Amino acid sequence: MNSVKVGLLGLGVVGGGTWKVLVQNAEEIARRAGRKIEVVAVAVRNVEKARALVGDQVYVTQDGLEIVRRPDIDIVVELVGGETVAREWVMEAIVQGKHVVTANKALLAKHGNEIFDAAHKKGTMVAFEAAVAGGIPIVKAIREGLTANRIQWLAGIINGTTNYILSEMRLKGLSFNEALADAQRLGYAEADPTFDIEGVDAAHKLSLLASLAFGIPVQFSKVHTEGITTLAKEDIAHAERLSYRIKLLGITRRTSQGIELRVHPTLIPIERLLASVEGAMNAVQVQGDIVGPTLYYGQGAGEMPTASAVVADLVDVTRLQFADPGHQVPHLAFQPGSMADTPVLDM
Ligand code: NDP
Ligand code: HSE
Repeated sequence: MNSVKVGLLGLGVVGGGTWKVLVQNAEEIARRAGRKIEVVAVAVRNVEKARALVGDQVYVTQDGLEIVRRPDIDIVVELVGGETVAREWVMEAIVQGKHVVTANKALLAKHGNEIFDAAHKKGTMVAFEAAVAGGIPIVKAIREGLTANRIQWLAGIINGTTNYILSEMRLKGLSFNEALADAQRLGYAEADPTFDIEGVDAAHKLSLLASLAFGIPVQFSKVHTEGITTLAKEDIAHAERLSYRIKLLGITRRTSQGIELRVHPTLIPIERLLASVEGAMNAVQVQGDIVGPTLYYGQGAGEMPTASAVVADLVDVTRLQFADPGHQVPHLAFQPGSMADTPVLDM
């Protein structure tokens, strides 16, 4: 059975993690996808550094256009970031009829309507689970798990860097700049960290969540956006004395006038679940009219959690677009003949 061929644009924090996950869990991933998923080409700035990770068998170039135009590539994974080359390469990938997986919320928040429209017309998929809340499968939860519901509102901690900064300031007494430097070192922050600390990254993600939840176009420009740069340690301590915790929340809800979109620091009573989400963890609460409240929690940034979401999208696209005729696409946990011989303990 032929493998599905992937062109990986970007091999930094998330791209490097994606490569590692595809190597580490290759067998499990192939079983779930129904085909082996193989990275055959990579685009980066620093070619030598990339070769040290992926070896000589993978083609490495600085030119992403060369990759997206290769006829043998089935899926393009964009993990470059930003809106310049990433936009050009993603749009060209769609023109070339490739399916796209991306973690680039800045790109989708600004140009998502154009990108989704082009993909729709071409009949290709654009999958973006990793663009919102890192490793939490919140896109799939809203798009697939809650489809019986009219969603009323959702609210969440959707930026790991700012949550990490607020936690470190409160729990360890670090200064804002010390905590931000740590978040950058740990691979949580954006290339331009002002996107994190000014609330812009959370606004990017909120506009995508609202689009999924309410079926509206992506409307990033409508998000009221405040960050955490004006907060001092004293504000955090003062809130604590009043039994509140300060969190940067993204909130969207239906009102009688329309959909509200806002990102700002929020006082949360300390007994509420969202108040105890610390570090780079994210959490999103979604209120459906049928199911009531549901809560999604997990690592919201960083190499491997984000790669987990990227690879989940790769598996989805492969299952949906490249399953061999006659191959049983595994929807169930148990597939005859696969892991059936794994022993189960008597407890
Ligand atoms: P990095 O800066 O770590 O990696 C970017 C990669 O893209 C690098 O490999 C870099 O090459 C390559 N690259 C950048 N510009 C060019 C260019 N002009 N030509 C060729 N290659 C280029 O970013 P991240 O991995 O952190 O982020 C990637 C994407 O994932 C972004 O959209 C980000 O918002 C998103 N994201 C990040 C998360 C995180 O926790 N870090 C979580 C969720 C989403 P080189 O290695 O040679 O420098
Ligand atoms: N910079 C982002 C964050 C990465 O800190 O949440 C994950 O999207």
